Amino acid sequence: MRKMGLEKTLVLGIFVAFAAVGVSGHPDYQDALSKSLIFFEGQRSGKLPPGQNLKWRADSGLTDGSTENVDLTGGYYDAGDNVKFGFPMAFTTTMLAWSVLEFGRWMPKELDHAREAVRWGTDYLLKACSALPEALYIQVGDPNTDHKCWQRAEDMSTPRSVYKVTPSNPGSDVAAETAAALAAASLVFRRVDGNYSKKLLQTAEKAFTFADNYRGNYSDSLSSVVCPFYCSYSGYQDELLWAAAWLLMATQNPSYLSYVQSLGINSDSDMFSWDNKIPGARVLLAREYLVEKNEAASSFKEQAERFMCSVLPDSSSRSVGYTPGGLLYKLNGSNLQYVTSVSFLLSAYAKYLKISKQTFSCGDMVVSPSILRKVAQKQVDYILGDNPRGLSYMVGFGNNFPQRIHHRGSSIPSIRSNSQNIGCDQGFQFYHATDANPNILTGAVVGGPDRNDAFSDDRSSYAQSEPATYINAPLVGTLSYLAACFKP
Ligand SMILES: *[C@@H]1O[C@H](CO)[C@@H](O)[C@H](O)[C@H]1NC(C)=O
Ligand SMILES: *[C@@H]1O[C@H](CO)[C@@H](O)[C@H](O)[C@H]1NC(C)=O
Ligand SMILES: *[C@@H]1O[C@H](CO)[C@@H](O)[C@H](O)[C@H]1NC(C)=O
Repeated sequence: MRKMGLEKTLVLGIFVAFAAVGVSGHPDYQDALSKSLIFFEGQRSGKLPPGQNLKWRADSGLTDGSTENVDLTGGYYDAGDNVKFGFPMAFTTTMLAWSVLEFGRWMPKELDHAREAVRWGTDYLLKACSALPEALYIQVGDPNTDHKCWQRAEDMSTPRSVYKVTPSNPGSDVAAETAAALAAASLVFRRVDGNYSKKLLQTAEKAFTFADNYRGNYSDSLSSVVCPFYCSYSGYQDELLWAAAWLLMATQNPSYLSYVQSLGINSDSDMFSWDNKIPGARVLLAREYLVEKNEAASSFKEQAERFMCSVLPDSSSRSVGYTPGGLLYKLNGSNLQYVTSVSFLLSAYAKYLKISKQTFSCGDMVVSPSILRKVAQKQVDYILGDNPRGLSYMVGFGNNFPQRIHHRGSSIPSIRSNSQNIGCDQGFQFYHATDANPNILTGAVVGGPDRNDAFSDDRSSYAQSEPATYINAPLVGTLSYLAACFKP
């Protein structure tokens, strides 16, 4: 990910189309859902629990936080490296929680795994909040040295530096996203672990107050430690909106709705990502109106629908692109993150419209819940192999999937089979090898094809071949939805 690889990439064009399409004419969504959750086990940092299903990983980062005398073990590595970036980790956790809240009832077989995936994130985020209101820990690991090494997490040797935001060096973006994650997760655990849920909600409120009281972009003080990796390009207003929306859901306290309205955010965005939360917040707030029947939130319906009209392929006000093969195309860096996040919002909105028996229009086009669902389904089917390459972009799904993903752990022999320490530079022999990765990172969805549906199954082409937690997190919800809609 991030800095562009200079090596000439191998465009994959020789594979015979062989999509993982079952007799029912669509991919096995239930199987994809199970796999999408196993991926999160592969990204775990800290002491792995006895129930770990992905066996080639082992404990790592067991002293994280020690330089600041705080326990910051656990959490997730964001992508193919060994840094724990708090900003995308919090967004990942929020989207996993939303997936469970919206579609958890429809994923009975996987609900426990999905809750575990949320909890692996929130257990860490609670630790990150332990010094509030003095500080919020936002990252462990120095990305600039980490990215110069190719090492397994189990034997990483670069500094596990701890970074934080404080009242004098604020980060309303990362603090508000952390609040959103904790508030959303408090709803996930409300009925299954009341005490944990309360702790999550209290901490969410603390993190939100911190974000709101000490305003600023975390990239201003942390610069090269977070940029260009997870620079806060969109600023922090969108995270304040998003966090307040989640706190409204979790508390039903109308002061959060007033807060949201007082922010006065008018700009639209057709991108929903770890950086920009505006579309997600609007869809969530529209839920407050459509599902909870809160009239005071009625204005968000139109805002959410402007977003829908900006992404639907046949809409006259569409602003995103589509590839010739039919994939939504927003940006060339890990484009599938936008595909999965948009598909999630389409799925959630289809559900709200159905519940409230409504439709809406984009120009002359009348949009029904089934239109939204079909668009989301088409995107997911593309990801799972129904595309011009006949390639599944989910590792381990179907017979034809990326073999050389940009992921340190996946590409280096497992510590379980090769216990010898592999140093920073030593690992590059595996990066440069043309062999397939020895360890299957089951369920990982990679960055995906370019605007012409071409894909390089090549580690150096990280914009296409690197997986990330925030690509998978929204997909968990959409897959549950589709698995329920298309029962075998
Ligand atoms: C929840 O917290 C209360 C009050 O601290 C305590 O009495 C109770 O035992 C806790 N319940 C569980 C299941 O841990
Ligand atoms: C934060 O970043 C946004 C987007 O780059 C910018 O518009 C805004 O002025 C910044 N705010 C502060 C307080 O620096
Ligand atoms: C991706 O987009 C950026 C910005 O538009 C551009 O600079 C870069 O060359 C593009 N990379 C590829 C591989 O198309």
